[in-house]
Amino acid sequence: ATERKAVFLFFGGTGDLAYRKLYPSLFNLYRKGNLRSHFAVIGTSRAKMDDDKFRAAIKKSLADSGNRTDSKEASDFVSHFYYQDHDVTDTAHYAVLKDLMDKLDKKYKAEGHRIFYLSMAPQFFGTIAQDLKTQGLLSEGNDVFNRLVIEKPFGRDYDSARLLNDALSKSFDEDQIFRIDHYLGKEMIQNIEALRFGNTLVESLWNNRYIDNIQVTLSEKLGVEERASYYDNSGALRDMVQNHIMQIVSLLAMEQPVAFTDTDIRAEKVKALRSLRVYNVADAATNFVRGQYGSINEQADYRHEDNVPHDSTTETFVAGKLLFDNYRWSGTPFYIRTGKMLADKFTRVDVVFKRPLVDIFAFPQSQNTPLAANVLTIFVEPHAGFSLQLNAKTNDTGFSTEPIKLDYLVDAQKSKDTPEPYERLLHDVLKGDGTNFSSWPEVSYAWKFVDQIRRVWDLQEPQFPNYTPHSMGPAAAEELIQRDHREWVYRL
Ligand code: BG6
Repeated sequence: ATERKAVFLFFGGTGDLAYRKLYPSLFNLYRKGNLRSHFAVIGTSRAKMDDDKFRAAIKKSLADSGNRTDSKEASDFVSHFYYQDHDVTDTAHYAVLKDLMDKLDKKYKAEGHRIFYLSMAPQFFGTIAQDLKTQGLLSEGNDVFNRLVIEKPFGRDYDSARLLNDALSKSFDEDQIFRIDHYLGKEMIQNIEALRFGNTLVESLWNNRYIDNIQVTLSEKLGVEERASYYDNSGALRDMVQNHIMQIVSLLAMEQPVAFTDTDIRAEKVKALRSLRVYNVADAATNFVRGQYGSINEQADYRHEDNVPHDSTTETFVAGKLLFDNYRWSGTPFYIRTGKMLADKFTRVDVVFKRPLVDIFAFPQSQNTPLAANVLTIFVEPHAGFSLQLNAKTNDTGFSTEPIKLDYLVDAQKSKDTPEPYERLLHDVLKGDGTNFSSWPEVSYAWKFVDQIRRVWDLQEPQFPNYTPHSMGPAAAEELIQRDHREWVYRL
């Protein structure tokens, strides 16, 4: 592994994400040799704490994520961690962070490379970026890098996202900004490009002549857990559709990039998103439906979760139909759905092909059931793999056909060894590879699309709750697709 050098500064350094995902991911990079001796990590938040206590907390976070921490390796790793309390609105105090960064840069010979990671309340993103620059925390020199990693949410609509982006771009150029969408760090999401552009069989059929529709399902089993105060202000449309689903859809819809580089891939994703039809009021109302879970038994009722108002109209489920106005996809809809408290945790993409134009097996005297559509499924989680449904002859003397499946499932051991999204993404940041991050044009087109849906929804009070916990969502999601004489491939 190539060793990367950098001083990291984590805002929100004592937060849940940092402990659960970010530090364990850094440890994995350390164990693999991507980080060795030339790095340091500063955690900052408002809390008071000394380095020792912080290091103990890091150790605990490693242990909680299944690592042994009695090793020399773990102790060496945590010795690179430092803590500094800091109020992000106190401009003068950035000098303290600057001194610490400079000191650690020298001590570990990090060669001036800096990674600033914002994992905290989004209202401070702009201020922090600005102060980092004006207070001199960005290092200077030809061969140094300064990179800003920014967690979601990136705005709550197009206007606020643009303001945020304008604020960030006063301090950082677009190629220094890494907007996290952790779905882009998932193995099988990255596999979409291999599947499409590595296989003649797939890519030559990947268009409206052969594909009837594509279905993207991000189904979650859990409710809002402890995040209600964030979630109730967001809802499923902002929380999952604007980012994760739009990213997946753009990878499915894009043209082949000129080369496998971040610039070329992003250019194609942006083009795809530009040809996504932005709905007018009437079309937004018919092509998108929402839901909220609830039941007679109030235990599993969104409106009775902690920190959720009893009359909340926040959607915990979305289903929709997306249309691309371009030569490849015109007439082939993409159906998407996501929700909380559904029957199962399942992330998958089902590509439904058109049936053969003529079914020669269905002559008048035949008992044969009509040919089924070929379906190519990409399993993202919990299992990773592909499945291809074909029609084959049944194994008997007569002649009838039945759908069979060619399955490829990544085995359990390999799945266990698959790097976590955050490990990959942090590695990409160290390398300076923006492929698996959302660029500003992508984010802005996604917001413009989503804003139209939101605008229509905000005009009308929904009738919530409208789906039972552990179901597959409201009846409206079924009606949405049945209206087009189609069905969800993944159902209970
Ligand atoms: C996050 C959302 O971005 O993604 C959460 O904010 C959601 O609400 C989560 O639960 C799902 O991610 P994953 O990786 O568990 O599918």
